[in-house]
Amino acid sequence: MDGVINGFSKLTKEQKIQWVADNFAQNPEDMARQLASWQHPDAAQQKILDGFTENALTNYPLPFSIAPNVMVNGKVYAVPMVIEESSVVAAASSAAKFWLNKGGFHAEVLGTVKLGQVHFRWHGDPKLLQQLFPELKATLFNSSNDLTTNMRNRGGGILDIQLIDFTAEEPGYYQIRASFETCDSMGANFINSVLERFGNTIEYFFDTRNDLSDRDRDVEVIMCILSNYTPNCVVRAWVECPVGELEDLARHAGLPGPEAVDRICTAVRIARLDPYRATTHNKGIFNGIDAVIMATGNDFRAIEACGHTYACRDGQYRSLSKAWVENGVFRFELELPLALGTVGGLTALHPLAKRSLEILGNPSARELMMIVAATGLAQNFAAVRSLVTTGIQSGHMKMHLTNILNHLGATDEQAAAAQVYFADQTVSFSAVRTFLQG
Ligand code: MEV
Repeated sequence: MDGVINGFSKLTKEQKIQWVADNFAQNPEDMARQLASWQHPDAAQQKILDGFTENALTNYPLPFSIAPNVMVNGKVYAVPMVIEESSVVAAASSAAKFWLNKGGFHAEVLGTVKLGQVHFRWHGDPKLLQQLFPELKATLFNSSNDLTTNMRNRGGGILDIQLIDFTAEEPGYYQIRASFETCDSMGANFINSVLERFGNTIEYFFDTRNDLSDRDRDVEVIMCILSNYTPNCVVRAWVECPVGELEDLARHAGLPGPEAVDRICTAVRIARLDPYRATTHNKGIFNGIDAVIMATGNDFRAIEACGHTYACRDGQYRSLSKAWVENGVFRFELELPLALGTVGGLTALHPLAKRSLEILGNPSARELMMIVAATGLAQNFAAVRSLVTTGIQSGHMKMHLTNILNHLGATDEQAAAAQVYFADQTVSFSAVRTFLQG
């Protein structure tokens, strides 16, 4: 069959590129040359990148940007962001600057507990399992002592182990839910290693109990894996200011401060009550969050999955942020789970993730949670402010103008002239093409 290959992973990188180009390119020579050309010039650095995944052909660059002036709890950060979307960094930077002389962002970590699960089947009397559980729990702690020593020395480890009975929903199904403190590491490998040890221990525990019947000795571990839903690993970030000091909030749109505040609060309430709007609203929050997560070598899929589950924790998907006025003070707040690490994983390996952490002053995981939440809030504030005043397209298309000019092959002179011309004109693909042709 065309396009099928055995042993692709065994080929050298050059052979892989050639095979892909020969089989899938319109112009194989051109594709092979381009894929080969995106390698890092320093072989040692490239080796690190190639080590991240199987079958790496080349690198896929994205811009590494900075949102300056992000003040969190009185400390000013230059926040590294990796994202392709034109207006995201500009929006975060503008919100950061706006709040800089109004106290900046405030943030607090509400908890750092991570979770893991062992899912197993057992068909004995549930009361007997409850009776055996204290002994099983102690055995689980003891059996993983060697794996948890380092983490315990750093102040973390296993916090608790619970047994949960799901037999009413699924015959014989129980779950061990363990909670962990993983200090400055995201802790996925640590947690998963401990959980797999738990799985073996559970099997051994039942298998070797001569006081149990044959049926009660029979346990079946289905799977052991961390849960990316961490509702107790949560951070809150907020901005606040007397409404009377917000006259500049939407001056660019000619809107008095209190009216702009009212429109922002209404927009956020809409995102709390309507899941269609909530999804887009939260997407805007994750524009900021994912970009810092990417820049610092953290796992953005885990963060997104968890954030969206948290957003529907009361049964309906809602906005992760809230905005209100109380006693004349406007408050815009974001609360979400962020299971982040600043040691281990890619944070130490990816050369630019290391740089990002350096730029942030090598923060602890807790500090990074607060920086990331503040950036998500900045992004959300900027998006909602634009939406309820000028709309987002004018700013977005101004930023996108460069992409259109590049796409149409504009020269530097044409691009400079276009930037001047489109400063007060609506940007569209056809308008830019017409401008370049004229
Ligand atoms: C675009 O990437 C993000 C926004 O749609 C977010 C929002 O609507 O709040 C502007």
